[in-house]
Amino acid sequence: MKNKHFLHISDYNKEELWEILELAKSVKAKFRNREDYPHFKNKSLSMIFAKPSARTRVSFETGFEWMGGHALFLGPNDIGIGKREAIKDISRVFSRYNDMIMARLFEHKHILELAEHSSIPVINGLTDYNHPCQIMTDIFTVWEHLGNIENIKIVYMGDGNNIVHSWLHLAMRFPFHFVCCCPDDYKPDKDTVEKAKNAGISNIEISHNPFDAVKDADVIYTDVWASMGQKDEAESRGKVFEQFQVNQKLMDSTGKNTLFMHCLPAERDREVTDKVMESDYSIAFDQAENRLHIQNAIMIKLSEQ
Ligand code: CP
Ligand code: NVA
Repeated sequence: MKNKHFLHISDYNKEELWEILELAKSVKAKFRNREDYPHFKNKSLSMIFAKPSARTRVSFETGFEWMGGHALFLGPNDIGIGKREAIKDISRVFSRYNDMIMARLFEHKHILELAEHSSIPVINGLTDYNHPCQIMTDIFTVWEHLGNIENIKIVYMGDGNNIVHSWLHLAMRFPFHFVCCCPDDYKPDKDTVEKAKNAGISNIEISHNPFDAVKDADVIYTDVWASMGQKDEAESRGKVFEQFQVNQKLMDSTGKNTLFMHCLPAERDREVTDKVMESDYSIAFDQAENRLHIQNAIMIKLSEQ
């Protein structure tokens, strides 16, 4: 791959993204059989978390160790990135110890800085701006379930957040119909929407009407209404987002069989009802599993440069 780091989906071209998806398919089969796959023997991965995590932490650590390497978990109170020490100093120190860095940070500019000064690959494990590993996983999961990626309709319901920005980046590379249905004051970043529209690859829409937006949807996707770092706004957001809840009535109004997706963690009976989460058409746990396989593929590809 041309890029040393994995920071945004749109840093890669369509062929490179397909290579990741194809590789994920083959490493998924190997992992499920627990085949030996010592790709990272004697290698190490530092995992820096400034925010909480279940899936990202466990999937990266499990994947890297399955491939023969050692993964180090560095939680919010461990290294104090950008507080105890400058970000660029962490980049240079870890570049001497490790073979790869995965980081979950608040400000997006901080992951750009970490990568700029690092001589080893840096993977974005979520920032306030985007979550590329998640959306690569999501499109892989859609591919598994629908056998197709192109020309499907994906309706995202809720806050125009980091998840939406990565969907928009993907829409600059693969052609599909993406609708972000959100309250007017919670739209995604204007520049990112413009770039996705101007790329001329996908049909991008911003809507504020849930029942109109979901017509003919192949997938309805949602995420928490208050992201990490915004939890003190949870109560006030609850009122604004109420009509954007994914419930059975909304799922029934698409006019076709529609899959439900969620990046997790879910706050049941807020952005999605318990019933929808537990339904046969919910593929949220397939998504969660696939984080492991997509990230393994991304790490292998980055190591092969
Ligand atoms: N979807 C996701 O990134 O989950 P975690 O926050 O638990 O890592
Ligand atoms: N938008 C959510 C995603 C969690 C995976 C957050 O940033 O908290």
